[in-house]
Amino acid sequence: MAKLYQGLWSSECRSFGHGYLHLCIASLKAMTYVIGSACVDVMDKSCVQECPVDCIYEGGRSLYINPDECVDCGACKSACRVGAIYYEIDLPEDERQHLSDNAAFFHEALPGRADPLGSPGGATDLGRVGVDTPLVAAMPRPT
Ligand code: F3S
Ligand code: F3S
Repeated sequence: MAKLYQGLWSSECRSFGHGYLHLCIASLKAMTYVIGSACVDVMDKSCVQECPVDCIYEGGRSLYINPDECVDCGACKSACRVGAIYYEIDLPEDERQHLSDNAAFFHEALPGRADPLGSPGGATDLGRVGVDTPLVAAMPRPT
């Protein structure tokens, strides 16, 4: 499924017609949902059932949303009983690190792997990855 994009207002926007229609080519930006710290060591996985494009992948202590595959539908957010999922622009300050960290799970080689996961095209077929980003791996475990 094609990745959706959201145009954001910026000084690069050019006005058309009566000034109400703007084309913001320079600021087209892919948006995503993000799994934050509340998922760590909980991993309820209710979100996985809701995702229409199967883009929520299982690490060792947390799940991660692939920002390149997420179609921003929001179905996963309401399924999470611990409120771990945010639209990226709604991330509270102390959760913002998970925006780049969810992406890093796919864009950077994980511990024990030579290459990044990239976009596998489906978490079910890939199966449990079983390792985490350094950020999540270093989080304190519940006592
Ligand atoms: Fe985690 Fe919530 Fe999904 S705990 S696995 S983000 S349902
Ligand atoms: Fe999937 Fe939609 Fe969430 S595409 S990751 S259920 S926002």
